[in-house]
Amino acid sequence: MKRLDGKAALITGSARGIGLAFAKAYIRDGARVALADIDIDRARGEAEKLGAAAFAVEMDITQQASIEAAVDATVAHFGQIDILINNAAIFTAAPIVEITRDDFQRCFDINVAGSLFTLQAVARHMVARGGGGKIINMASQAGRRGEPLVAVYCASKAAIISLTQSAGQDLIRYGINVNAIAPGVVDGEHWDGVDAFFAHYEGKAPGQKKREVGESVPYGRMGRAEDLTGMAVFLASSEADYIVAQTYNVDGGQWMS
Ligand SMILES: NC(=O)c1ccc[n+]([C@@H]2O[C@H](COP(=O)([O-])OP(=O)(O)OC[C@H]3O[C@@H](n4cnc5c(N)ncnc54)[C@H](O)[C@@H]3O)[C@@H](O)[C@H]2O)c1
Repeated sequence: MKRLDGKAALITGSARGIGLAFAKAYIRDGARVALADIDIDRARGEAEKLGAAAFAVEMDITQQASIEAAVDATVAHFGQIDILINNAAIFTAAPIVEITRDDFQRCFDINVAGSLFTLQAVARHMVARGGGGKIINMASQAGRRGEPLVAVYCASKAAIISLTQSAGQDLIRYGINVNAIAPGVVDGEHWDGVDAFFAHYEGKAPGQKKREVGESVPYGRMGRAEDLTGMAVFLASSEADYIVAQTYNVDGGQWMS
């Protein structure tokens, strides 16, 4: 018996990176997974490789109609959603004096409003179904404290920690556990973009910031998407039924709280 046997999950932003690693881990542990992403071609390609347990669905979490259509399509395909991972997000960086309202709006539209209204749409389905569920939000060590060049992204991830607390307390009455994972620095395409931001703003050579942050992690290296999958499976399993409104650091020892 696998830990997620019979469960259906929707994972946003799962065409690549951490979300894709979550999808693979969930399928290994017995679940069926909707790979929901704005990049539908890539989601389809990955779903094909994963086989019948995977289903690609187009979803832009900044658009309410797209959120609802993706949730409906997933329920139609699997008959239910037992698990949501609110994983899609973007990174942005700029010194305070250069932040633009457009950039702030885009980051908050995706990272905060997108996560909240996806959580809401899936929670409505779970409440109506009456079988409880598990919702996992992707926070970040960036949500634990501000950083000089990363004000907007940090604030968006602090908001995720707060929303996890509020939604966790509200929804547990329906048997829906809401918790979050706060990764540290995880190598992949996302961090290639982060490295480029720091190369621009701190005058670093390409790859230098990555090397520096990797060396600063107590564990001794940057994280890999696979370092996070154990926590994601655990939080989605019945072993986590009594865990409510928490944010877990999975970051090689970067942040302690
Ligand atoms: N990589 C890290 O170092 C790191 C650290 C801490 C937290 N996180 C968080 O983990 C999560 C995954 O990070 P990642 O590194 O895999 O990111 P990533 O950039 O590699 O992947 C993000 C995915 O989200 C999708 N996406 C973007 N906008 C979307 C939208 N509007 N609607 C639907 N999908 C959309 C993208 O197409 C992409 O597939 C994010 O929430 C991120 O903030 C990452």
